Amino acid sequence: MTRKRKITILGSTGSIGDSTLSVLEFAADTGESAFEIEALTAHSNVEKLAAQAKKFNAKFVAIADETCGDALRAALSDVDVEIGAGAGAIEEAAERDADFVMAAIVGAAGLKPTLKAAARGADIALANKECLVCAGDVLTATIEKAGGRLLPVDSEHNAIFQVFDFDRPERVTKLILTASGGPFRTWKTEEMAVATPAQAVAHPNWSMGAKISVDSATLMNKGLELIEAAHIFPIDHQLIDVLVHPQSVIHSMVEYVDGSVLAQLGSPDMRTPIATTLAWPDRVPSPSAKLDFASVAKLTFEAPDLKRFPALRLAKESIDAGGIMPASLNASNEIAVAAFLAGKVKFLDIAAITEQVLESVAGTAGAAKVNTLEEALDADENARRLAEEAVAARAAA
Ligand SMILES: NC(=O)c1ccc[n+]([C@@H]2O[C@H](COP(=O)([O-])OP(=O)(O)OC[C@H]3O[C@@H](n4cnc5c(N)ncnc54)[C@H](OP(=O)(O)O)[C@@H]3O)[C@@H](O)[C@H]2O)c1
Repeated sequence: MTRKRKITILGSTGSIGDSTLSVLEFAADTGESAFEIEALTAHSNVEKLAAQAKKFNAKFVAIADETCGDALRAALSDVDVEIGAGAGAIEEAAERDADFVMAAIVGAAGLKPTLKAAARGADIALANKECLVCAGDVLTATIEKAGGRLLPVDSEHNAIFQVFDFDRPERVTKLILTASGGPFRTWKTEEMAVATPAQAVAHPNWSMGAKISVDSATLMNKGLELIEAAHIFPIDHQLIDVLVHPQSVIHSMVEYVDGSVLAQLGSPDMRTPIATTLAWPDRVPSPSAKLDFASVAKLTFEAPDLKRFPALRLAKESIDAGGIMPASLNASNEIAVAAFLAGKVKFLDIAAITEQVLESVAGTAGAAKVNTLEEALDADENARRLAEEAVAARAAA
């Protein structure tokens, strides 16, 4: 790769944002790739965003929390950079002329900016799975209409993307999404009942942001990924399986009609899938460690336990029901995870609150189809309200 690419990172101050900048720097240092940063965004981390803007000479920076605007302007008063604050500024960042946009905001907050970038035909490297769960049909249709590419960053989808025969999808008989099982893989339900946020975010293999770490502990992350996979790959969602693989070496697999199973392997380091999206279909070097098979020694597999991890069951039921159910699942999970991290509810309440909201949504609105952004946002807003009520009730009990 020799062309200087214009890159925007939505959510540059997070774990994926950090890793993306590290891959870009590494590829540039090895002379394999030249890039310039068009825009960087954050929610409220002024200090880190300002430091990134200076280091990478960003043309535009945006901070979602409007109250942080003045602090960001002060921190960048000595450099020539355009600055925006508020949710609209994040969308402005997405609309600027970059050919590659890393969508790495956490949660459905990333939906509108990702859609803006998609609508102008940029390549979308998608880490922000929640926006696909919330409005997958809308996002994929927007990307297709504008002629951009959806490049999956999630290691499982990135793995499948590398071995899926898009020319002969009818020859694929199964997708196997691997799951580490998270920090509570071997824990009893009674132990999980008293799990603390610190224990839940202590992932055994991956270093990630707090929300996805909790999702990995509940296995909701795998449920969101199942819904994500159904949007990215032309395959019936009933043909997507989840398999617990504690070593996180096989990142996922595709089974073909003749019995062949193709897998992608690598060390559990997001810089590999990020590098894949940045160069695809070419390859660039990444700073991640190469896999050492002798030290990995053995690879093991087990079926997920839907009794101990009901969040995965809820995600499966949501995609079966379709319509607004995945968006409702995602929104209630976001609220419940935030409440758990804030110490307002217990670990097991996360799935319980989500189930309560889904039952209520199914009983009232029914599973209407999500055809537009507005419909997705309505479902998201309604489920958030119901989940907030459920959190308040549990916190008061
Ligand atoms: N981390 C991983 O290894 C990994 C792997 C696969 C997929 N993913 C997915 O990638 C996404 C990002 O995960 P992460 O682990 O990088 O999360 P993270 O470390 O929490 O970072 C989230 C980023 O989004 C920004 N942000 C948060 N709320 C926002 C809002 N309301 N509006 C605008 N920006 C907001 C944050 O800004 P501040 O820093 O200012 O808060 C930060 O830049 C998630 O969807 C996750 O599921 C992550």
